[in-house]
Amino acid sequence: MLKLDNVHAAYDSVVVLRGVSLQVNQGEIVCLLGANGAGKTTTLRLISGLIHPLQGKVCLEDKPIHHLSPEAIARLGVAHVPEGRRIFPGLTVRENLILGASNRRRVNKVELTSDIKKMFEIFPDLEKLQNALGWTLSGGQQQMLAIARSLMAHPKILLMDEPSLGLGPIVVQQVFSVIKQINETMGTTVLVVEQNAVIALSVASRGYVIENGRIVLEGKASDLLNNTEVREAYLGGRRTCI
Ligand SMILES: Nc1ncnc2c1ncn2[C@@H]1O[C@H](COP(=O)(O)OP(=O)(O)OP(=O)(O)O)[C@@H](O)[C@H]1O
Ligand SMILES: [Mg+2]
Repeated sequence: MLKLDNVHAAYDSVVVLRGVSLQVNQGEIVCLLGANGAGKTTTLRLISGLIHPLQGKVCLEDKPIHHLSPEAIARLGVAHVPEGRRIFPGLTVRENLILGASNRRRVNKVELTSDIKKMFEIFPDLEKLQNALGWTLSGGQQQMLAIARSLMAHPKILLMDEPSLGLGPIVVQQVFSVIKQINETMGTTVLVVEQNAVIALSVASRGYVIENGRIVLEGKASDLLNNTEVREAYLGGRRTCI
């Protein structure tokens, strides 16, 4: 469904991606692991069209998308839940969800109501909070809202940037079990970027490891979990770049 082929990218003249190739097949959950500054967020921003590659290709369903605007890429079915979640703090939970559908053409009120109901089935806590303002939600609830809002766009593929960041272990478990549930029940393909390798590899079928803008390892999630390099570098906590 999604393919990056030898992608290079830079901020101004500083090159941060140096030939990233990866692939996400329809229906898969794939994780991209890596330390601080490795290029994980940049990879997602590049897929969403927020930055354009210096060289290389990004294809969605075999069609190049790397020259398109973020709006056009979103309309093709790519949803991005950014680092730090970014819900609308001054709007209610329900209003946040409605805005999530704004990229869809000709969505009527009946459809919208039924989609919101579906979201409340997956995220029961959000139903109770539907009239609460975004900023009053806990970190975990905001993450759930950010995911639900992105699903309102009916994406083919969901890009998630460090959904576990700043959340306690129980909430992290809940967030990842919801990711698995969405993948299984709605068929949404997922590419998730994480530093928490254990949790990401526990729901993913495959994973990639990025270091310094390059993919240095890839494989089945179960193999990566048992890989010595991965275990030393990524299992057992965050690694900080100096
Ligand atoms: N807007 C920007 N302008 C200039 N350099 C940037 C910008 N955003 C990121 N970088 C640099 O690009 C490199 C890759 O950053 P990126 O945010 O993709 O890493 P990351 O793997 O997501 O890290 P983290 O785990 O800290 O979120 C880093 O060296 C970072 O300092
Ligand atoms: Mg990042």
